[in-house]
Amino acid sequence: AKGVFTFDPGFMSTASTESAITYIDGGAGMLLHRGYPIDQLAEHSDHLETCYLLLNGELPTDEQKAAFVEDIKAEIAVSDSSAAVLDGFPADSHPMAVMVSLLGTLAAEFHESTNIEDEADRYKAAIRVIAKIPTLSAMTYKHSVGEAYVKPEPGLSYAENFLHMMYGTAGEAPKVNPVLAKAMDVIFLLHADHEQNASTSTVRLAGSTGANPYACIASGISALWGPAHGGANEAVLTMLNEIGDESRIEEFIAKAKDKNDPFRLMGFGHRVYKNFDPRSRVMRKICDEVLADLGVENDPLFKIARRLEKIALEDQYFIDRKLYPNVDFYSGIILKAIGIPTSMFTVIFALGRTPGWIAHWNEMLSNPYKIGRPRQLYTGSVKRDYPA
Ligand code: SDX
Repeated sequence: AKGVFTFDPGFMSTASTESAITYIDGGAGMLLHRGYPIDQLAEHSDHLETCYLLLNGELPTDEQKAAFVEDIKAEIAVSDSSAAVLDGFPADSHPMAVMVSLLGTLAAEFHESTNIEDEADRYKAAIRVIAKIPTLSAMTYKHSVGEAYVKPEPGLSYAENFLHMMYGTAGEAPKVNPVLAKAMDVIFLLHADHEQNASTSTVRLAGSTGANPYACIASGISALWGPAHGGANEAVLTMLNEIGDESRIEEFIAKAKDKNDPFRLMGFGHRVYKNFDPRSRVMRKICDEVLADLGVENDPLFKIARRLEKIALEDQYFIDRKLYPNVDFYSGIILKAIGIPTSMFTVIFALGRTPGWIAHWNEMLSNPYKIGRPRQLYTGSVKRDYPA
């Protein structure tokens, strides 16, 4: 017999889920980082300043920002041991699988010297992951295309350095495209944090056991990989390519509504937003700018995306279920226009989300916390005796 046991909600420890970092009002389509609306941060701030805000709770003074940027630059390089593990992967390994392991190399390298009870050590861990994740990401890409790793340049910004390490040539001077660097920086910023989504909750749960912070970030990368979460940006491009032509959009809208068909419109819907994801509004604007700058505004995939968005927003099925384009819908098109390979899209998401993950980890460890223990609702058999 199947029984359902009730449980005392008092077991639900709130200590491991309280946070002052990000607030989302899904009905209003509002996203605040330490009280600042995401669209204002996207317009007036930059990724590293937003990292500082997420970690410290306030926007930095000019001096604080300059010191933070220097701290990041001082940690941007990675050790030969990380490169050696990367070199051991087959070139066609999925970059997200590689990144999980590369965070493991940081855990191995810094475990002994990281005391998570020490505020300075926690800050150091935050700086290291924010600084090294672009380098590891770019190296993962270079390994996949069989090219030599490109070292970061001290004179470049965070996003410029990432694009240089991705597309530069070892030993050659960087070629910077300010429009693409700005677009990349805003994409990182728009992904920086999003309250306690699946991957952030994974990082917090791992952190609540006292695990190594770099291993906690590895667990966040693992959770983000799924197509229902961070893998959706890659899945959006796969879907647009599958649609292939504007004439086939209605066919796919019908598939998305067919209960017998597992197909869902990638880049639509959200666990929390029952309104436009405020990030996708900003992302849409960047999409226009980047495609115009690159002269590819008539990119067929972008035209399909635009038309798909219009049709879906007018379709009663989607309206009834409050399904709107989310952050992944346009990010994939921008990343494709910038030349990022589809397999790297979720790595870009992880790169952008790292400051949110580590800010939540640090916030939880900076206050009294208990080990997380999500309570189950038991639906199994009631107590019974083994047959005599
Ligand atoms: C991210 O949580 C976060 O904050 C995540 C994120 C972040 O920044 O960390 O914002 C990033 O993960 C964004 C989401 C990216 N995923 C996708 O774009 C994948 C496609 N979306 C769906 O898989 C879905 O919308 C989810 C998983 C995102 C949300 O699913 P929910 O809230 O669990 O919705 P549901 O499954 O309860 O669906 C409600 C109804 C259902 O129909 P009914 O059974 O009520 O008739 O809406 C339908 C669903 O079938 N539905 C969709 C749909 N999403 C939901 N139908 C077609 N296409 C879709 N995309």
